[in-house]
Amino acid sequence: MVDIAEDGRTWLLRGPNSSYALHLTEADELLHLHWGPAVALADAEALAVRPLPAYRGFESPLDGHEEYPVEGGPRFVRPALSVRTEERRGTEWAFVDHAVEDGELRLRFRDAGLVITLHYRMRGDVVERWVSLVNEGDTQVELLRADAATWTLPDREDWRLSHLHGRWAAESQLTSGPLTYGEKVIGSRRGHTGHQYLPWVALDTDATEERGEVYGCALGWSGSWRIAVAQLPDARVQITGGAGYDDSGLLMLEPGESYTSPVFAGLWSDGGFGGASRAWHAYQRAYVIPDADRDRPVLFNSWEATFFDIAEDQQAALARRAAEIGVELFVVDDGWFGARTSDRAGLGDWTPNPDRFPRGLAPLADQVHALGMQFGIWVEPEMVNPDSELYRAHPDWVQYQPGRKRTELRNQLVLNLAREDVQEYLWEQLDTLLSSAPIDYVKWDFNRAFTDAGWPGETYPQRLWVDHVHALYALLDRLRAAHPGVAFESCSGGGGRIDLGILSRTDQVWTSDNTDPLDRLAIQHGFSQIHPARIMAAWVTDSPNTQLNDRASSLRFRFVSSMAGVLGVGGDLAEWSEEELTEARHWVDLYKEIRPVVQHGEQYRLRPPTGGLSAVQYLRGDETVVLAWLQAQRYGEPVPALRLRGLDPSASYECRETGEVHCGAVLSHHGLHTALHGDLDATVIRLRRI
Ligand code: GLA
Repeated sequence: MVDIAEDGRTWLLRGPNSSYALHLTEADELLHLHWGPAVALADAEALAVRPLPAYRGFESPLDGHEEYPVEGGPRFVRPALSVRTEERRGTEWAFVDHAVEDGELRLRFRDAGLVITLHYRMRGDVVERWVSLVNEGDTQVELLRADAATWTLPDREDWRLSHLHGRWAAESQLTSGPLTYGEKVIGSRRGHTGHQYLPWVALDTDATEERGEVYGCALGWSGSWRIAVAQLPDARVQITGGAGYDDSGLLMLEPGESYTSPVFAGLWSDGGFGGASRAWHAYQRAYVIPDADRDRPVLFNSWEATFFDIAEDQQAALARRAAEIGVELFVVDDGWFGARTSDRAGLGDWTPNPDRFPRGLAPLADQVHALGMQFGIWVEPEMVNPDSELYRAHPDWVQYQPGRKRTELRNQLVLNLAREDVQEYLWEQLDTLLSSAPIDYVKWDFNRAFTDAGWPGETYPQRLWVDHVHALYALLDRLRAAHPGVAFESCSGGGGRIDLGILSRTDQVWTSDNTDPLDRLAIQHGFSQIHPARIMAAWVTDSPNTQLNDRASSLRFRFVSSMAGVLGVGGDLAEWSEEELTEARHWVDLYKEIRPVVQHGEQYRLRPPTGGLSAVQYLRGDETVVLAWLQAQRYGEPVPALRLRGLDPSASYECRETGEVHCGAVLSHHGLHTALHGDLDATVIRLRRI
C-alpha cells in the first residue's frame, strides 16, 4: 500500500506491521522520514516539516537524511550513485514525476540525459528497493557506482551490527558487535556472492532473540557486491549497498542503454532477532523462492560416497540402497561427463563420459525412476578445465587479461559468460543434456572465484562482472522455462552463492561442504538468521567425517542435525550395515512426517549452539517439532529444560514421543525436559495441540 500526500511530495508505504515514509523538498532533495512501526500519512507529513540541521560550512545538512545520496553538491557520505560523462562527474537531479503501479512506487529524476528511477515496493513488512538508470542522452554515461538503495536508521544511541562471516566449509558464522564511528564494509570482490559474507546485515540497540527492534537489509545479487554500514559524525546510521565491490566502474551506458540494480530489501521488526528471521523467512517463501509451498524431497548425493570414481552400475547399486531407506531424489554429483575422472579435466564438456556411461545417462535415470525416485545431476557450467575439448576449441572464451598468465584455481578457469557465444554454447549444452535423459534436478556449482576478469577486445571490459551475473540469471530462467519440471540447487563449493537473487530462481541451496553434524549446527544457526529451512540442504554423511575433522558421531546425531533443513544423505550407503540402513530408514520416515512443519513452519531458535544444549523449534498450525542437540554434558549437570515459544498458553499439547500431555503455559514458562545426556546426543520431539 502506498499513500501519497496531496502535494505529491510525501509518500508512505504501509505493511501489516510497519511503515516507511519519504519526502521530497522544494529543492528536490529526497529525504528519509520514517522506517519502523505503523504510522499514518499525517504523521509522516508532520515529520516532513521538521527542519534539517543548518549548514555549518563543514557539515552537510543532507548527510544521513537522504534516501539515495548522489555524488555531488554538499554531500560527504559515501554516494549511492557516482557517474561521469566526458564533461563532468556527479549528479544534480531534478524531480520528474512519481507513479504507483501494482503497489510499486516509482520516483523519477533527471540529470541531463540520465533518467534515474528509484523503486519501492512493500511485500509483507519487507521494503524492496532498487534503482534503474536510462541514458536518454546522446553521449556515454559511465556508472562508477550505482547502489540499489541507502537505508537510514532512526536516531538512537549504541547501535549494534550483526552479520554473517565465514570461509569455505565454515560459512554463515554469526557475529555481532557495537557499531562505532566510521564505516564497516562487507562484500565480495570475487565474482560470486562468496563464502566470506552473506549479503545481510542486522542492526539493533538492545534486542534479544524474541524482543526488541531489529533492522535488517539483504541484497539480491549473486556477483561481487558491497554493503557499507556507516555511523556518521552526528551518530546517524546509514546502510548503502549494491552490485560491485569498488567504485571504479560498473558499466558504460551508451545512448539508449539502461541498468537496473539488484533489489536491496529492508525489514523492520520489533520481534527481536527471532521475529526478524521469521519475517525474512515468510517473505522469501511468499515472494522469492519458486514453488515454496511444495515440499523438497529427501535426496541422496553421491559426492562424498564416491567422489570422482563413479560408474553406472555402482551408482545404480547406490540408488537401490537409497530407495530402500526412503530417499526420493537421487543425485549423481561430479565425475559423470567428458574426461572428468578428477578435477584436472573435463569441465566444459557436458556429455556423459563414454567409459562410465556408454549408453548416456538415460539408463541410470530410468533405473532411478523405476525405484520410485527422481533423478538429478551435477553441473558447473560457468567453468572450464584447460584440459577439455571446449578449451582446446575456444581458449579465448575464458576471462583473461591479454599477455598475462591465466590463474587456475582447482585447475579451472572461468568462462566469460558476458559473451553471447558462450551463453549460446551453455544453453545448447544444458538444454541438450536436460532433453537427453529424464532429469528432474540440477545441482549447479561454481567452484572458483574470478581472478583475471579481463575481456580482451571489449572497450569496457569491466562490464563482464555485472554481465556475468545477468547471463547466469538469464540462462537459469531460460532453462527453467524450457524444462519446467526441473528443480535447481545453487552450490558454490558449498555456501558460496546464497543470496536473494539466486534464490529467486533456484529451489534450494547447498549450505556448506562441511557435513560435520556439529559444525553444521553453528552454520545452520547463522543461515537461519535470514534464510528458511525450506532451502537449506543438509546431508547425513559417514562417520568419522574423514573430509574434515575425523569426528565420529552417531547416526542419530547426524540425522537430527540434518533434519533441521532439507534432509539429504551423502554417505557411502554401499558401506552401511543392515542395522545402519534400518536406522536410517527410521529417521527418513520420521523426517517425512515432520517435513511440512520444518520446511513450511515458523522457526524459533530456542538455544544457540554454543557448546552445551541447543535447540530449534518449528511451529505450523497445531503441530510443533523440536530438534535438540547436546554437544557435551559437563560436570554431571542436568540438561536444562527447553522453553517453547509461539504456543497457546491455554491449550494442551500432546507429546508424540512420550504420550504426555502438557499445558502450553507450562511448556513456555517452565519448559520441556529432554532425555538428552552425554556427548553429541540429539532428539526429535513432536507435539500436537489437542
Ligand atoms: C563442490 C561442491 C561439492 C561437490 C564438488 C564436486 O565442492 O560443493 O558438493 O559437488 O564441488 O566437485
